[in-house]
Amino acid sequence: MGITVAIAPEEIDKKITELAIKIKEDFRGEKIILLGILKGSVTFLTDLGRKLDMDVEYDFIEVSSYGDEKVSSGVVKICKDLTRSITGKNVIVVEDIIDTGTTFKYLINYLNIQKPKALKVCALLDKPSKRLVENANADYVGFIVEDEFYVGYGIDYKQQFRNLPYIGIVN
Ligand code: IMP
Ligand code: MG
Repeated sequence: MGITVAIAPEEIDKKITELAIKIKEDFRGEKIILLGILKGSVTFLTDLGRKLDMDVEYDFIEVSSYGDEKVSSGVVKICKDLTRSITGKNVIVVEDIIDTGTTFKYLINYLNIQKPKALKVCALLDKPSKRLVENANADYVGFIVEDEFYVGYGIDYKQQFRNLPYIGIVN
C-alpha cells in the first residue's frame, strides 16, 4: 500500500495558526472546551490547543460507526462519554474529517441536549462531495478535500498511520 503526501506538515501548521486566530476572535474573553473526537482528532487538537493563548480545557468523547474499515454505516454509538458537564460552557468539537456528516449530526444532537452556551465544530478535513446529511457543516474548516481516503496526522486506516506528520492519500 502506497501513501502519497497530500498536505505537508508546514501547510497544516499554517492552517492551524489561521484557525486559532479565528477561534480567538470569536471567543475573546471567554473560556472554551476543546472536545476531541477520539482518536482521529488527537494530533490536531493538541496542535490547535497550543496556539490558543486563552482559557482552554480539553475533554474527549469516543464514537464508533459500525461498518467495514472505509465506509461508515450510518449507525453511531458512544464508546467513551464526556467526563464533565458542558451545560453553559463554550464547546468546540474537534473532528478529524467530516465525510457523510452522520457523526457530526449525531454528536450535535447529543451535545445540544446538555445545553452548552455555544456549540461549534472545527474539522481539519471536509469532504463536502460525500455528504449524506443536510446542514452538517463545520464552523471552522481546515482543508476542503476531494473524495479520497486520507491518513496521517491522527487519521487512520485500520488504526495505522496516525503517527505520520503529514496528511496522505492511500492508493
Ligand atoms: P462521517 O460520519 O461519515 O462524516 O464520518 C466521519 C468519520 O469517518 C471520520 O471521523 C473518520 O473517522 C472517518 N473517515 C471519513 N473519511 C475518512 C478518510 O478519508 N480517512 C480516514 N477516516 C475517514
Ligand atoms: Mg473518526
